Amino acid sequence: MNEIRNILKTMEYGPAPEDDKDVRAWLANHEQGFGHFIGGAFTPAKGKTFTVHNPANGEKLAEVAIADPGDVDKAVGEATKALKKWQALSGNQRARHIYALARHVQKHSRFLAVLETLDNGKTIRETRDIDIPLVARHFYHHAGWAELRDTMFPGYEPAGVCGQIIPWNFPLLMLSWKVAPALAAGCTVVLKSAEHTPLTAIAFAEICAEAGLPAGVFNLVNGAGETGAALAGHDGIAKLAFTGSTEVGRVLRRQTAGSGKKLSLELGGKSPFIVFDNADIDAAVEGVVDAIWFNQGEVCCAGSRAIVQEGIADLFHEKLRARMEKLRLGNPLDKAMDMGAVVAPVQIEQIIAKVEAGVAEGARMWQPSWAQTVAAGEGCFFPPTLFTDVSPSSTLAQEEIFGPVLASMTFRTPGEAVQLANNSRYGLAASIWSQNLDEAFDAARTVKSGVVWINSTNLFDASAGFGGYKESGFGREGGREGMIEYLVPVWQKKAKLLPQSEPMPAPTPAPGGDGTGLDRTVKMYIGGKQARPDSGYSYPVTGKNGKHLAEAGLGNRKDIRNAVEAAHKASGWSGMTGHGRAQVLYFLAENLELRANGFAARLVEAGASASSAKREVEASVARAMRYAAWADKYDGAVRAPDKRLLTLALNEPWDVMGISCPDEAPLLGFVSLVMPAIAMGNRVVVTPSPRQPLAACDLYQVLDTSDVPPGTVNIITGDRNMLADTMAKHDDIAALWYFGDSEGTELVERESAGNLKAVWANDGKERDWSDPAQGQGEEFLFRAVRIKTIWTPFGV
Ligand code: NAI
Ligand code: MG
Repeated sequence: MNEIRNILKTMEYGPAPEDDKDVRAWLANHEQGFGHFIGGAFTPAKGKTFTVHNPANGEKLAEVAIADPGDVDKAVGEATKALKKWQALSGNQRARHIYALARHVQKHSRFLAVLETLDNGKTIRETRDIDIPLVARHFYHHAGWAELRDTMFPGYEPAGVCGQIIPWNFPLLMLSWKVAPALAAGCTVVLKSAEHTPLTAIAFAEICAEAGLPAGVFNLVNGAGETGAALAGHDGIAKLAFTGSTEVGRVLRRQTAGSGKKLSLELGGKSPFIVFDNADIDAAVEGVVDAIWFNQGEVCCAGSRAIVQEGIADLFHEKLRARMEKLRLGNPLDKAMDMGAVVAPVQIEQIIAKVEAGVAEGARMWQPSWAQTVAAGEGCFFPPTLFTDVSPSSTLAQEEIFGPVLASMTFRTPGEAVQLANNSRYGLAASIWSQNLDEAFDAARTVKSGVVWINSTNLFDASAGFGGYKESGFGREGGREGMIEYLVPVWQKKAKLLPQSEPMPAPTPAPGGDGTGLDRTVKMYIGGKQARPDSGYSYPVTGKNGKHLAEAGLGNRKDIRNAVEAAHKASGWSGMTGHGRAQVLYFLAENLELRANGFAARLVEAGASASSAKREVEASVARAMRYAAWADKYDGAVRAPDKRLLTLALNEPWDVMGISCPDEAPLLGFVSLVMPAIAMGNRVVVTPSPRQPLAACDLYQVLDTSDVPPGTVNIITGDRNMLADTMAKHDDIAALWYFGDSEGTELVERESAGNLKAVWANDGKERDWSDPAQGQGEEFLFRAVRIKTIWTPFGV
């Protein structure tokens, strides 16, 4: 009695550890040794191995085999063998398998939660209430996509064998984000677990066997970067999905360039957490807890940069410090802990290095009074840390720390808040706190990130797309948009390889503006004006039987840069309504039709027969009208993952895109690419067919007379691959469409790694632009946008 009275007096927590005996028994049964899961069976835990630790106390949990290229090859082989049978199943049959996985995950949920906590160091509260329920939810949701694939994605088929590489911060959850959509699409999988945390993936492999998933559909290899590199480089995979650091994302972009593999990258972040002065401050403080102390801050979308309105900053920081003082950090298996252990000693070192840099740069650090006891104790623990007076360009504000460290800055006006938020090479997520809907949505629309949480943070659901802007990567996971990442158009697999482009004809000095000679050079078109090439050179364009038709400007880097600048200035186009853009595109179609004879004549000169030239012009007019129709209709989705939550999946333009047009169909190819891009609100820098640029160049007249604002479409003639190289490297181009040869595909994919722009390339393959299945449709619209998911809780 006496004791209870005392407890009530002090209100101290007692220990409340979750029982780990089932997990201990499981580890003992396996003699703490694990191999890979290949073709439905485990390999022995032999050969080279790595040791898996519990970061909370340094205890050794298991030895796990490292997959060498031979193991990876076997796994890809089994996945390839399984592909036919898996695809021969009906959608309903695949759905049943995925449903069974969901059920089995639920059945083992407590076991999986404890195992994840032991392996990763995250608290049992999180694994039990967040990670594992979301894993089950992901498989349930995707059982549905297996069922509905053919209805919802007509004309698509599964990409094939998928290589998937996951990080250690949400081991089983990231596995589910990768595996569930792949299986739902009809793909088979080789997954590489993260070297710090392989155990729940191994347990999942057992679940696959237990649930009767056909052998070879899911394969697991363990190991570190070298194993990952062997998987990414394997010829047998058709699609690579990666979550991890931006640095490795770049390596993988380069490694897979020109391979024809589909690629999705979910990379780092430095996500802003914006608090306006009319926010519910206590709610926002609690939001910070979920944003940056959740999972010890080892979260790609962690709200790691607080951006607080000046008038409330002191109050906000004061309340935040009081809350931090009360956070409980310790044994992750204890059900009453808020924070657990950081994944491994190397991660602690990395956090310390960034924190020291922050102190050296003059930011003010604050930690709770109990912080010293954490640093002195055993295990990989790091106390919650707040930096104020952080300057926007400092290490703390710019670099991902991946630990429980918040960098706080202040702002005066809403415009400044968004400017600070966007002052980052990353663009994964943003949290916006304001009781004023007007202000919150305005910021949500202008912030450059793939996920926005209004008055909330770190919410996830299988139905809502997740993924980044800018160097946070490309591709989405979850929702319909996530399914597309595992599908390819049916016709594409049979498409023939185009020959490499012939070298450009020798350049000739263009007669300058000095009045000498007659300038027969067709002009380029930049910022709504005709422009001469910066190089001063042009090249001859020849038609049927080698007849010299005209000279076209030989564009260079400088021309591309000017065009990009003009495109950036034309932001008004992106701000127009879909209806407004539709009117312009209809007018454009009308004006193109008025000049049909002129364009047909150009195509005949270039070598087309009279009838095919006429057809190409007619198809171009129809295509322009098609995208005028789409301009106000390809508009996203609303989802309701909870009764007090709506998520909006908004299709936003990339802003500035680069487009390299094909040689086939010099007019229709151009129109088929440019129209969907601008219909969705992008401004474009386009290089027309180098061989036959004349029809496309004539379009400037149509653009001029159709009220297309200057800078919306910029046309640069010249060597396709040379210009594409410049566009691929350009940091102010967010997406690049390339339709040329296979050499050029390799080039642009590799060179795009700098700012990790999204690249859509033809792999050097032919496309029949006159066939609506190939030359128009959702594929184009989908590639013309990036999806922003905005979460809006209400009534809470
Ligand atoms: P990492 O990017 O090296 O590891 C992620 C995964 O990629 C692991 O499975 C790893 O084995 C694999 N990998 C590493 N090198 C590879 C290569 N060359 N080819 C193929 N696969 C490769 O991340 P790491 O080293 O564990 O953490 C370093 C930093 O990266 C963290 O401090 C954090 O800033 C960031 N990170 C971001 C994550 C996110 O979710 N966005 C997740 C993990 C780390
Ligand atoms: Mg690494």
